[in-house]
Amino acid sequence: MSRLDSCYNISDLRLEAQRRLPKGVFDYIDKGTEDMLSLGNNRRAFEDIKLLNKTVVDISDVKLDATVLGKHAAMPMAVAPTGTAGLAWYEGEFELAKAAAKAGVPFTLATGSNTPMEKLANEAGGRLWMQLYMWREKHLSDELVKRAARNGFEALIWTVDIGHGANREHNLRNGFATPYVLNTRSVVDMLLHPAWLAGVMGRYMMNGGMPKHVNYPPGYQTKITGNVAEQKKTHGVAAKRADRVGWDDVDRLRDIFPGKLLIKGIVRPDDAQKAIEHGVDGIVVSNHGGRNMDSAPATIEVLPQIVKAVDGKMQIIIDSGVRRGSDIVKCLALGADAVLTGRATLYGTAVGGEAGALRAFELLKEEMKRTMAYIGVQRVEEIDAGCVWRG
Ligand code: FNR
Ligand code: LAC
Repeated sequence: MSRLDSCYNISDLRLEAQRRLPKGVFDYIDKGTEDMLSLGNNRRAFEDIKLLNKTVVDISDVKLDATVLGKHAAMPMAVAPTGTAGLAWYEGEFELAKAAAKAGVPFTLATGSNTPMEKLANEAGGRLWMQLYMWREKHLSDELVKRAARNGFEALIWTVDIGHGANREHNLRNGFATPYVLNTRSVVDMLLHPAWLAGVMGRYMMNGGMPKHVNYPPGYQTKITGNVAEQKKTHGVAAKRADRVGWDDVDRLRDIFPGKLLIKGIVRPDDAQKAIEHGVDGIVVSNHGGRNMDSAPATIEVLPQIVKAVDGKMQIIIDSGVRRGSDIVKCLALGADAVLTGRATLYGTAVGGEAGALRAFELLKEEMKRTMAYIGVQRVEEIDAGCVWRG
């Protein structure tokens, strides 16, 4: 039995990823921020929601097909943008994108990714979305947006919840940073994970060197490994992210991007209303998987208020904490149109590249189908608040 076949859920994939990855890389992916409160809130909130069995009904033909941003998807889900997936597996984003195409769900490429958008557009297949972190020099971001449009990316997701950057103390403790700084600690960490060292780093070395942030503006691109001077340079890049932004930026993006426009990181009904007023096609209700503000509520807790405020006027996608197919059902029951998965599909990628990511999709699909059968619905449109136990 292969390692993947013996992973029966996302939690198993996570443990396998933990074995494979250096601690610095694993913690970067897995953990939250500060005291990990929002990370915990996300999971606890899902666990607290109970669904009701509906019995003596036909469940012989349960289907997950959904409409996501106006087009068919094999299930109501897309892959969240995760920068530096290229450290989880050799060309991690490319592997994950190919798996998403095979699984029939859209894939989102992060601004901080290591795969050029051109390569994804030409070789990955499937539906592609592009995530944007806006630079202070906004014309440089406009270039990225236009490049995404030229390459046929169907949606642009502007992430707005990063504020002043994140206080991820574990990264400092592990000596982990992007770029991955080669010091005694990180080198020992890598040497303790020889399969990763050979399979990821070794393959980069054999194939032209360490990957870069190829979707950054040319002057900002640095390798994902580097010395302290390189690291300082990249901190410089983080500081180049725009912190003076406003809804007029949304208007500008709306003007220059012909596809669907989404804003990621909305948790307040008034912000959701603003998004509607500025003509966006949808929002991602997100606390960044508990990676940014530690005092954030779980997204599933704020979802009902947002759904009420939006009143069907735009798409509502939600992320942060999805680990089971039943979580996806809970999101739909409380009014979301679809979910994004960050870590769930990234753990799979870390264990087996495209095949590992496919395993994650397969597990989530099976779990979602089983949950739908329990609650007696055969189509995703039938999942509603009536499926949720109210006490
Ligand atoms: C992220 N996330 C993220 N979001 C974003 O807009 N741009 C980015 O570059 C990244 N990078 C990133 C890296 C890693 C390793 C992770 C785990 C996450 C956040 C991501 O898009 C999503 O909001 C969360 O991952 C959702 O929570 P779950 O599914 O991981 O619990
Ligand atoms: C993260 C940033 C890259 O969550 O969004 O790591």
